[in-house]
Amino acid sequence: MTDQVTPVSVQPGEARCPGPSTRDLILGDSTPPPAALLEESYTFEGDDDIPYEEFTSAAYAADEHDHMWSRTWQWACRVEHIPQPGDYYVYDIGDRSALVVRGPDGTIKAFHNSCLHRGTQLKPPGSNGFSQKLRCPFHGWTWSLDGDLVDLPCEWDFPHVNADEFQLPQLRTGEWGGFVFVNFDDCPEELIAPPLDEYLGVLPDHFADWDLGDRYVEVHVRKKLPANWKASAEAFLEAYHILETHSQSIYTAGDANAQYDVFGDNVTRFIHTIATTSPHVPAEKRPDEDAMLNMLMARKNPGHEVPAIPEGERARDVYARHMQEVLGEAYDNDFSDLSVAETIDSIEYHLFPNAFFFPGLQIPLTYRFRPDGPDPDRCIYEVLFLRPKPRSGQVPEPAEPFDLDVDDSYTTVPGLPTSLGQVLDQDTTNLAAQTRGFKSSKKRGQTLGNYQEVRARHFQSMVRRYINEGRTTSATKKAATT
Ligand code: FES
Ligand SMILES: [Fe+2]
Repeated sequence: MTDQVTPVSVQPGEARCPGPSTRDLILGDSTPPPAALLEESYTFEGDDDIPYEEFTSAAYAADEHDHMWSRTWQWACRVEHIPQPGDYYVYDIGDRSALVVRGPDGTIKAFHNSCLHRGTQLKPPGSNGFSQKLRCPFHGWTWSLDGDLVDLPCEWDFPHVNADEFQLPQLRTGEWGGFVFVNFDDCPEELIAPPLDEYLGVLPDHFADWDLGDRYVEVHVRKKLPANWKASAEAFLEAYHILETHSQSIYTAGDANAQYDVFGDNVTRFIHTIATTSPHVPAEKRPDEDAMLNMLMARKNPGHEVPAIPEGERARDVYARHMQEVLGEAYDNDFSDLSVAETIDSIEYHLFPNAFFFPGLQIPLTYRFRPDGPDPDRCIYEVLFLRPKPRSGQVPEPAEPFDLDVDDSYTTVPGLPTSLGQVLDQDTTNLAAQTRGFKSSKKRGQTLGNYQEVRARHFQSMVRRYINEGRTTSATKKAATT
């Protein structure tokens, strides 16, 4: 144990790492942070172990599909994946599949991806393309982009098929931040999710000045992971693992002093400061501000002259201005009005169940995690780099997904900075060992930190809540009909 022992008078969840808090750090910046970054929202959510069974059980995974994926809002694609009428994108989650289509009038609709004749999927899983009409590849039943049945080969044989009743069933859709969301609403009426705006909680408010719709997909990577989708997502919900897993970054990144917030049911956040030294680094090894600036600039932009730090400023302030200039030039933009924190820090929001959004400039990531088939030990992890659209208006096409298999390294991904590739390799390498350990453990659950791992606890409790609500509602309905 290297940290101070918690004083006995402190209640569970009240203890914080000794040293400066995230709030103290960003309040000391040369440019003030936006109000959203000063909000704090933490409540102790208990300290019971989280059963490993919730990660390893096929029955629990099936319950997630029946009761959670069936009725939560999920990001299906970006609007720029379907820019023109007739463009489509298929989003799959378990056995469910949504065919998202740009209609003739430019509006976006989503249909259940299954023919009303004998069920064939109209478009292949994960496909993206253009179609004037939605034609089934089996016998040719065809729907318009609005979902109207417009062609039925050998119609004489189907006097019982009425076009009004054979419209393609639609899913609810919504848009936020340039993302198209869908909801399968496959649940009893009383469990139907609220509209997307409401479901998003604080996100629209917090992202008011960080419009992700003003960004484009520079890099898109899909990797197969040998791990449960929730265990994989958890690995990105806390900075607690940095000391052990990413020890190369502790001189220039805070970790134990990261801030964690839970905003209502569906949104959580961490803010993890850059150009700060981890509280774990002993005093004699801590770089001074000049040395820190040197380390950061040498890593990010070798060859740049390292400026002197003006009186009253810190490495963070100078590094942020430097990155605003470098990225402004690279992405044809002016970032000089961003605060230090928005420019360089790792600011991560999680939207239940599976999406992560980073509004910051230097770390412009977006993630999502999905089960890969019915095996609870497999998932797909997608990473998108969302860069600001250039002022010229010449917006690049969204990057094609680059696929990595379980053992492939992120350092092979074109366009992905090598240092980030190494970090993602470090993150994902832990997961196979964790999956094995879930099964080899004598202890039957994971023991989480009260503060640093509160987002993981909240996330798991939300999944459990969905499953329990779904089971209870089904049982009540069953009892009422017998
Ligand atoms: S299954 Fe689609 S047309 Fe027959
Ligand atoms: Fe990590």
